[in-house]
Amino acid sequence: MLKFPKSAAFAVLALATLSSPSLAEGDADAGQKVFKKCAACHAVGEGAKHKVGPELNEIFGRAAGSAEGYKYSKAMIEAGDAGLVWDAATLGEYLTNPKGMIKGTKMAFAGLKKDDEVANVLAYLRTFSQEAAAAPAAAETGEAPVETAAAAAPPEPAPAADMVVEKSQGAFGLGRKALPEEIAAWDIDIRPDGTGLPEGSGTVAQGEPIYTDNCAVCHGDFGEGAGRWPVLAGGQDTLRNDRPEKTIGSYWPYLSTVFDYVRRAMPFGNARSMSDDDVYALTAYLLYLNDVVDDEEFELSKENFASVRLPNEANFIADGRADEPHYAKSVEPCMTDCKPGPVEITARAQVIDVTPEGEGDENSGGSID
Ligand code: HEC
Ligand code: HEC
Repeated sequence: MLKFPKSAAFAVLALATLSSPSLAEGDADAGQKVFKKCAACHAVGEGAKHKVGPELNEIFGRAAGSAEGYKYSKAMIEAGDAGLVWDAATLGEYLTNPKGMIKGTKMAFAGLKKDDEVANVLAYLRTFSQEAAAAPAAAETGEAPVETAAAAAPPEPAPAADMVVEKSQGAFGLGRKALPEEIAAWDIDIRPDGTGLPEGSGTVAQGEPIYTDNCAVCHGDFGEGAGRWPVLAGGQDTLRNDRPEKTIGSYWPYLSTVFDYVRRAMPFGNARSMSDDDVYALTAYLLYLNDVVDDEEFELSKENFASVRLPNEANFIADGRADEPHYAKSVEPCMTDCKPGPVEITARAQVIDVTPEGEGDENSGGSID
């Protein structure tokens, strides 16, 4: 059963809505932002193709469930057959509560909650519907809608160059290649030999006020740790104690970890907010707090970074396990075709009851068995 009135009632609804300013006027620019909620499933504009949902060009005046080449739900097709045509009123109702209006629609979208979001997204969609753009003008002047439509032609949607991503090549069409920018943002690790360090420098004296402003509240003015926050300095000669105090100066083997950790994770709660020069200055200041350097004018830079050694480095030893007798005889681990013989299917997901049942069930995983 469909839960919306038949065509005659729609006409009345539509008239009522045209005179209501809240739905009639909307901001197309703001609507473009709202459309981000739709864009995962719908395309609109030149060359728009069907995605999870049908393309939405010329949606105003289009009969429900009628876009060619798109496989609608039975409910949507029936709604169209029963006379549902998309206009401001019907779209408004559908977008507010899709499943409330058309029970059985396969649009898995909770609905827009705010009236202005609806008005704005409709104003945006209207720019891709010639009939809607032309209709009011034609009605007022009695002119043929053709010219008005041309004048009101939608602006070319700017191609979002930074959004161009390569489609997955895999059999299942899942995932995509990471963008170079994404890899660069992720690939920030710094090695003990200085590999990965960014350009930049900073002195102990520059680091002190940065530390006082951003770090001392938790780590204490001198790295002694406020309350139970981590201690960053001191603890020398405590490693043999029952409770050793492991700090940068007493325990850490490599300075690269300090730089990497601070740049990646600190200040706690506001990570990645420090510039590279700030991190050089902070690292220099932490060396000073740990008595590794004693000159306030000491400048740490990409160039001299690898020459700075932490006191405990020598107590870390290289991982030589591969050379130990126990491992020496082992062959390369098997990585492909490790199970001999043909592979057999021993159980199906449906049998072990992990596949949701029922058509139209929102959680339905489809027909995989
Ligand atoms: C999770 C995916 C998804 C999202 C998000 C989504 N839709 Fe849909 N939409 C669909 C699907 C699927 C259909 C087809 C419904 C059917 O056949 O029952 C549809 C149908 C429609 C229709 C009817 C089109 C026709 O040809 O009859 C309109 C209009 C529409 N959506 C607009 C929107 C707008 C506007 C938004 C954002 C506010 C949105 N949708 C968000 C998936 C989605
Ligand atoms: C809001 C409190 C807070 C602030 C501010 C803060 N940190 Fe931290 N810091 C932490 C916590 C908590 C940890 C331990 C996190 C963990 O173990 O997962 C930590 C860990 C560290 C460590 C590693 C300590 C170790 O021995 O494991 C360093 C180095 C560090 N912070 C430096 C800084 C620097 C430099 C700043 C200022 C830019 C800063 N932190 C600001 C809370 C803070």
